[in-house]
Amino acid sequence: MGKMRTQSAPWRAAVVLASVLLVGGVAACGNSDTGGGGTKDDGKITMGFSQVGAESGWRTANTISIKEAATAAGIELKFDDAQQKQENQIKAIRNYIQQKVDVIAFSPVVESGWDTVLKEAKDAGIPVILTDRSVDSADKSLYKTFLGSDFVKEGKLAGEWLVEQKKGASGPVNIVELQGSTGAAPANDRKKGFGEAIAANPNLKVIASQTGDFTRAGGKQVMEQFLKANKQIDVLFAHNDDMGLGALEAITAAGKVPGKDITIITIDAVKDGMQALADGKFNFIAECSPLLGPQLMDLAKKVKAGQEVPARIETEETTFTTEQAKEALPNRKY
Ligand code: AHR
Repeated sequence: MGKMRTQSAPWRAAVVLASVLLVGGVAACGNSDTGGGGTKDDGKITMGFSQVGAESGWRTANTISIKEAATAAGIELKFDDAQQKQENQIKAIRNYIQQKVDVIAFSPVVESGWDTVLKEAKDAGIPVILTDRSVDSADKSLYKTFLGSDFVKEGKLAGEWLVEQKKGASGPVNIVELQGSTGAAPANDRKKGFGEAIAANPNLKVIASQTGDFTRAGGKQVMEQFLKANKQIDVLFAHNDDMGLGALEAITAAGKVPGKDITIITIDAVKDGMQALADGKFNFIAECSPLLGPQLMDLAKKVKAGQEVPARIETEETTFTTEQAKEALPNRKY
């Protein structure tokens, strides 16, 4: 067996220099590869996420789900709270583009006005995933997929339940509606679905409809106005639990019994809403699941790897009556 030749000092220096140049070159290639995204040499994915805000219990649960899922999936998450303002979301998305993140995900506060910034992301080669809420862009190539609920269906389920409950009504049934944030997909779609469903019974009439911005404070304040302006309110349809919970305070303060004098239907099924339903203060909830984190991280990995993903992924959801809420509450995660 031949002996290994020991290297002379100048030879060793040349080898070291060559290695440095080689490693530097590979690293430089890796960096230039991030022109359309920021995958680092460690293969770790960076996601820039723009959240709507912290307006409701649903939103809090959604934020926790996304943060926990990112950690579990080994994805580096850059998170921004837009405080329910579109301009803040656009600013955050532009920052993520500048930072060359691998994937941008966001839950759009309103449906319209996203084309320009989505085009900027596309031109930079950064894939975008919509989660929870969608946009009304005609060009579907501006985003890879939309993961979230069918809000029209949620409104429809709420309306269908009411139609069934009031099928024996011989006179008008006066409904007031607390809408979500103006221009938001869940506000537009839930209103639409509910309206379509209650059209089955001409006795069911929406006598007042106004935004409560998806917040408890908004729900309380608008319900107070509804109660002042309308002598007979039979039903409240609130586009989320939080507005319904705020409205409970206004109803009680007006000397009425929520769930009895006024039938209350909401959407979400977060713990506080489910508790109100179990206590008989709410009468029906159509579920909207905030636990989108794990699916979102899976999609981010697939999209980054260049795999095809379905253009639309719909969340599985159910509905709850008082009895079903009592049963489900002990195991409710959010
Ligand atoms: O987009 C989902 C909706 O936004 C939830 O129903 C509501 O609670 C939240 O603020």
